[in-house]
Amino acid sequence: MRNKITKAIFPVAGLGTRFLPATKAVPKEIMTLVDRPLIQYAIDEARAAGIREFIFVTSRGKSALEDYFDHNPQLEAELRRKDKKEILEVLKTTNMDSGAIAYIRQHKPLGLGHAVWCARRLMGNEPFAVILPDDVIAADKPCLQQMIEAFEENPGNMVAAMEVPAEKASNYGMLDIESEQGNLVAVKGMVEKPKQDPPSNLAVIGRYLLMPEVLKNLNKKSAGANGEIQLTDAIAQEITEGRPVYGYRFQGERFDCGSKAGFLQATVAFGLAREDLRDELSVYLRAIMHVDKAAQ
Ligand code: UTP
Repeated sequence: MRNKITKAIFPVAGLGTRFLPATKAVPKEIMTLVDRPLIQYAIDEARAAGIREFIFVTSRGKSALEDYFDHNPQLEAELRRKDKKEILEVLKTTNMDSGAIAYIRQHKPLGLGHAVWCARRLMGNEPFAVILPDDVIAADKPCLQQMIEAFEENPGNMVAAMEVPAEKASNYGMLDIESEQGNLVAVKGMVEKPKQDPPSNLAVIGRYLLMPEVLKNLNKKSAGANGEIQLTDAIAQEITEGRPVYGYRFQGERFDCGSKAGFLQATVAFGLAREDLRDELSVYLRAIMHVDKAAQ
């Protein structure tokens, strides 16, 4: 088995109900932070980590994603005619090499585990990454790259891990910790969306490096928390079968862009990080905060 990770699955078949009515017509992953859709942040992170094959698990109504990664000769010709070199360069980052991208349909939103399982025939017998584009992570070194470097030292299933307050634990897969060494946490159990008594304050967020056995575990999976086929359950089975699972405490700030509050926070943070927008945006933010305080 090869240990180098060059394939990533992007499960984007969810209904995105928290963003209705927008997501009735626009896939959540096409919604923009400043001027780039969520999916572009995920692709850039994957490319920086050495991913070369991009597998999208999509569903009905997601064709905007396919168009986004396609060339648009008419638009490109028009920009060339107008000598808009900078925008042409930006557009290049949205293009994929022929054969580098594949789309698989999940016919029903049966859960994240089921979405990953839908891609099984494209994965081969090698470890792979899973990236959830609605978790956007601002970091000096991209989160997936941090994880792949840790994986090269300690091959095994690995999930991105982040501390969350106890009252939020029921929204996440939570880790039961065996031991910790630096950023790496050896895991002895995982619970998806615990209603009470989470085993720790370390939550799984949307970056995974998985061994091919996880796909086999998913073959036999039935519905878990929320009636969905859960990826967490298939990873937890790895522990019962004696294979290692690690949590990785990544460096960086994660935004939950699957929620409205998280999406707004990310918009402000990414806006402030942009040189061309920072001054105008911060003047505005200061002014409205000031009005807010005065009103109190
Ligand atoms: P979410 O739990 O955020 O669900 O899925 P969602 O449908 O996208 O959004 P809400 O909760 O209805 O607002 C986490 C990730 O798993 C994918 C989603 O597309 C998202 O990237 N997913 C989830 C699938 O691909 N298929 C599924 O059956 C479920």
